[in-house]
Amino acid sequence: MKLPIYMDYNATTPMDPRVLEAMLPYYREHFGNPASSHPFGREALNAVAKARQALADLLGVLPEELIFTSGATEADNMAVFGTAFGFQAKGLHLITQKTEHPAVLEPFRILEAEGFEVTYLPVDGYGRVDPAHVEQAITPRTTLISIMHAHNEIGTLQPIIEIGRIAREKGVVFHTDAAQSFGKVPFPLGRWPVDLASITAHKLYGPKGIGALYVRGEGLRAKLKPLHHGGGQELGLRPGTLNVPGIVGLAAAAELATAELQEESGRLKGLRQKLHQGLLHYTDGIRLNGHPEERLPGNLHVSFSGVDAHLLLGHVPEVAVSTGSACHSGASFISPVLEALGVPREWAPGSVRFGLGRFSTEEEVEFTAHKFGRTLKNLIPGK
Ligand SMILES: Cc1ncc(COP(=O)(O)O)c(C=O)c1O
Repeated sequence: MKLPIYMDYNATTPMDPRVLEAMLPYYREHFGNPASSHPFGREALNAVAKARQALADLLGVLPEELIFTSGATEADNMAVFGTAFGFQAKGLHLITQKTEHPAVLEPFRILEAEGFEVTYLPVDGYGRVDPAHVEQAITPRTTLISIMHAHNEIGTLQPIIEIGRIAREKGVVFHTDAAQSFGKVPFPLGRWPVDLASITAHKLYGPKGIGALYVRGEGLRAKLKPLHHGGGQELGLRPGTLNVPGIVGLAAAAELATAELQEESGRLKGLRQKLHQGLLHYTDGIRLNGHPEERLPGNLHVSFSGVDAHLLLGHVPEVAVSTGSACHSGASFISPVLEALGVPREWAPGSVRFGLGRFSTEEEVEFTAHKFGRTLKNLIPGK
């Protein structure tokens, strides 16, 4: 077993070597600009068309409904600003929820400053939005609902199909940030009542800096206001020379993740449960955050009582994980996500996110449970 152990797969994933292999020719011999009409350009253009079709087939959508971006942040910004400004003649009311990723929350904050009205829905103790709250919040002036699919910290899955149905019934555009879920849970996007969806390659063993925004249908595409202006690429919605190796990598990563999803999600769920049980073996001062079932298979987010996560992690340098609280100049602040969930103040500082993934092993999980367990016992005598 190699140390340190990487157990932060929600932050990013290592590239799968098969994805890198698929990309390399597009850095080397097929380096052309897809906008060029000579053979170098045509080679690149064909690769982009093939990748777009492959990705569209996996999602059950049309290739022209996928707009390649630099990742989920850009896709989220395009969805939120593009819809808010594109539909402002209808109204200025927008709906989201409190624990969205900053890539969604920040655009909403900016829109508020520009005169839009934003409803930030609460979540329950598991981090889930109640679809009934969504329905109650809709007004005749509502133009957009944005609710993420899977949470980046706590792994909770939102009831996006129910929310999408309500949005459709009321004629409101529905966006979901699927950065964490695509490739990890079944994602038949074309069959779901979703109008806009953000995905990114680096959470599914692909390269960083490439993602896509799904935009359902020509009508919505025509109304979305672009963020960038330039050479007209991506149907004018996202101009700029295409990242050909990245696009090839995104499609290759998505194909692998989809093909292996069923087996891999079962394996990861098993590893997650083993890790949870392993930690419980050492201490019962542990609280699971997020939904026990409706969550990403590889995400285990817990709070340990009576210990600060930064101190704890300092004693376990062999395992790379994330804390649930940000540490600024020595002082710990409780994550707004845990606050929204109602995690008690005495638990929140001891929060740790374990993210398991494709290259995680049983041996790593056993080592991690043992190491954290022993460290907790030493830090909190009497546990
Ligand atoms: C839920 C969610 N949305 C958006 C992002 C941003 O994605 P990207 O790094 O591709 O811009 C992330 C990744 O950190 C995420 O987890």
